[in-house]
Amino acid sequence: MSQLASRDERPWWRDAVTYQIYIRSFADSNGDGIGDVEGIRSRLPYLKKLGIDAIWITPWYPSPQHDHGYDVADYMDIEPEYGTLADAEELIKEAHGFGIKLIVDIVPNHTSSDHAWFQAALKAAPNSVERYRYMFRDGKGVNGDLPPNNWEAVFGGPAWERVTEANGTLGQWYLHLFAVEQPDLNWENPEVVSHLEDVLKFWLDRGVDGFRIDVAHGMFKEAGLPDITKDPVAEMLGTDHKPFWDQEGVHDIYRSWRKIFDSYPGDRMAVAEAWVSPASRIARYVRPDELQNSFNFEMLTTLWKASEIKKKINHSIDALAEVGAPTSWVFNNHDVVRSVDRLDLGLTNHGDTTRLRQGDPAQFNIARGTLRARSAALMMLALPGGAYLYQGEELAVPEVRDIPEDRLTDPRWKMSGYLDRGRDGCRVPLPWSSNPEGAFGFSKDDTLTPTQAWLPQSAWWGKFSVDSQDGVEGSTLSMYREALAIRKAEQGLGDGPMEWIQAGEDVVAFERPGDFACYINFGAAIELPSNSQILLATGPVHGHTLATDTAVWIRLIS
Ligand code: NOJ
Ligand code: CA
Repeated sequence: MSQLASRDERPWWRDAVTYQIYIRSFADSNGDGIGDVEGIRSRLPYLKKLGIDAIWITPWYPSPQHDHGYDVADYMDIEPEYGTLADAEELIKEAHGFGIKLIVDIVPNHTSSDHAWFQAALKAAPNSVERYRYMFRDGKGVNGDLPPNNWEAVFGGPAWERVTEANGTLGQWYLHLFAVEQPDLNWENPEVVSHLEDVLKFWLDRGVDGFRIDVAHGMFKEAGLPDITKDPVAEMLGTDHKPFWDQEGVHDIYRSWRKIFDSYPGDRMAVAEAWVSPASRIARYVRPDELQNSFNFEMLTTLWKASEIKKKINHSIDALAEVGAPTSWVFNNHDVVRSVDRLDLGLTNHGDTTRLRQGDPAQFNIARGTLRARSAALMMLALPGGAYLYQGEELAVPEVRDIPEDRLTDPRWKMSGYLDRGRDGCRVPLPWSSNPEGAFGFSKDDTLTPTQAWLPQSAWWGKFSVDSQDGVEGSTLSMYREALAIRKAEQGLGDGPMEWIQAGEDVVAFERPGDFACYINFGAAIELPSNSQILLATGPVHGHTLATDTAVWIRLIS
């Protein structure tokens, strides 16, 4: 198998392993039960030892936290609960000192309703310069009582909110594709375009290595804001056309952003959060003059089935190869049910996730889910391209399904009419110690109890802690550390070619340069090739027999 440029020669973002830090839930340095910048700083040695290449920090800007930072009130400062701009600058430098790159989250589709621009728009008159920064429209019907069109918000309910004008009368409507407190910006307005460019430069000047672009397929809306024609079949298949996603205009923006990244020293980059399909549409975001990475969400919507996974890998790699971009694998993030639960039930994150989010614990087999999640991780880390990990997956923490209803904070809970518990279950503050003091070590303040963390931790949370897995052979944490160390040592892993190995319909197996191979067994026990030397396994391997749900990395010795 031919080999591509060596790791030192290729840009880091082609195959980096990036660790997502959900700042509110990572580490709390001052005992208020909320994670913060100083908390991240204190855990850099942990991240270094884990062996990741980069961290992505979820939005840390001033925000009223209606959507935990994805409602930004000021793009050029730090949320006081999290620290100061000086703390952030220090963290960027210190991470670099550890050899860790740092990317920040940028939210260009909408601001917070607390943003100075939106507050000014509320006070201003219809058709004013202030309102032109957002998507204000007159309502339909005799008195403008009806929303301008039939669009629905992602979190549920109508995507339009009516405002009260300065004179006290009911007035125009504004668009919010997400929460009411997240008004959509008007990307046809050059002032919006240039402000976001200034924001990028602000953070690039402070040394960040890149950006994760929130709702990267949003921003532009189809001209005239047409009603959506309901097509139940397309809706079920997830192929329905939405006039606010994946519009051509976004690509002009990314072409100009790319010029900004390239004008800075070092390989500055951006990764798109673009929920578009098929893979050929994703490829358009990573054309050579646009962004460098786009999350590959295929594995979040996959069944635990070899044939489906193989198909998804092929489609993803082929589509991106056409534009010369690497694939960026994702098995977990702060928006989806943790892979331990998801893969146990073999369910996807598509459609109704109620069963996964609030199901009776008795229906879950955590041991099986853990084994599958570990196997999925070994597969991901052996595939060509980069990988994005989400904090806690290296501990195999499961979804927390017993958060009391009165402690749920995700806007989805309210906007779904209290039907969908939302995403809090994958955002519970990390357990660093098995001892409940300091919210299982999440907080520096020992007196903080697990239920005093901003999202309450369950009584059983400590058994997944870092200290109960650190240095323990066979723990998930040890497995991730070993996998990342092997990945670093093996020049052939990361970016580069792969070849399928035919090992049966219930097996995903592939070879990478350096006589390296990865096998994941989804069915009955199989025999590995007799010349396999086992480098790493997700569960016990007796002789050369690979049990169900288990994965191995092997060297094929001649
Ligand atoms: C995607 C983010 O990942 C999610 O957490 C957020 O709610 C929406 N974008 C809206 O910003
Ligand atoms: Ca704190």
